Amino acid sequence: METELRDYPLTSTIIKLKTGRVQLTLIKEPDWFLEQLSREDNEGKLYLPYWTYLWESSIALARHVEQLSTHLKNTDVLEIGCGFGLTGIVACRIGARVVFTDIERDALHFAYHNAEQNGVNQHADFVQMDWNTPCFNRKFRYILAADVIYEEHHWEPILMLLQNCLAPNGVALFSEPNRNNAVGFFKRLKTNGFTYQKSTDPVTLDKQTSQVSIYTIRRAKA
Ligand SMILES: C[S@@+](CC[C@H](N)C(=O)[O-])C[C@H]1O[C@@H](n2cnc3c(N)ncnc32)[C@H](O)[C@@H]1O
Repeated sequence: METELRDYPLTSTIIKLKTGRVQLTLIKEPDWFLEQLSREDNEGKLYLPYWTYLWESSIALARHVEQLSTHLKNTDVLEIGCGFGLTGIVACRIGARVVFTDIERDALHFAYHNAEQNGVNQHADFVQMDWNTPCFNRKFRYILAADVIYEEHHWEPILMLLQNCLAPNGVALFSEPNRNNAVGFFKRLKTNGFTYQKSTDPVTLDKQTSQVSIYTIRRAKA
């Protein structure tokens, strides 16, 4: 794990939460790496490796998750698009067993390292997974997703993943910084048999404050 982290200039930050501090190792110059690691897919579509940033949505979701300790204790949790792993680390800390997933192997290396330095890697698995081709044939009581619906072509595979991997009485917690282009995802949630409640949390990151929405998503009752 550590070898891959050494490929990057590193910095660290502390996220202060009600349940304690989370120390995160991050990439020092994410803008430069975003350019370096961007590539075109088979259809000529530009792919940008957004995992190189810590997003305010993960802070808002971590704050939300830490309030759910009675629900998450001893519960199987899947995190998709985990990036540096903040949200899943907080879920582990309150007693959940978390499977961290991301399409990017290096993101998982950072998530593992961050889980380890916060003493929770024993309660976790780290799986490289593209949500277009989920590799689980089991269901999770909770699914966590911070800032993953920013492109429309993500929506359908993520909806399928919710259909297939969320337990019948399960809860998916999504966070999202109120991007205009995300509205359509929540409309599609409703037409795909889900219902949701929304709350908002202001998050300050890099001296900028933004409103992040948290969505608590369940299957609609028949
Ligand atoms: C905007 S970042 C959010 C990262 C982290 N959740 C946070 O909020 O800081 C989106 C994340 O989704 C991951 N991702 C993008 N496409 C993916 C896919 N097809 N399958 C799984 N993960 C994907 C990226 O690698 C990245 O870590």
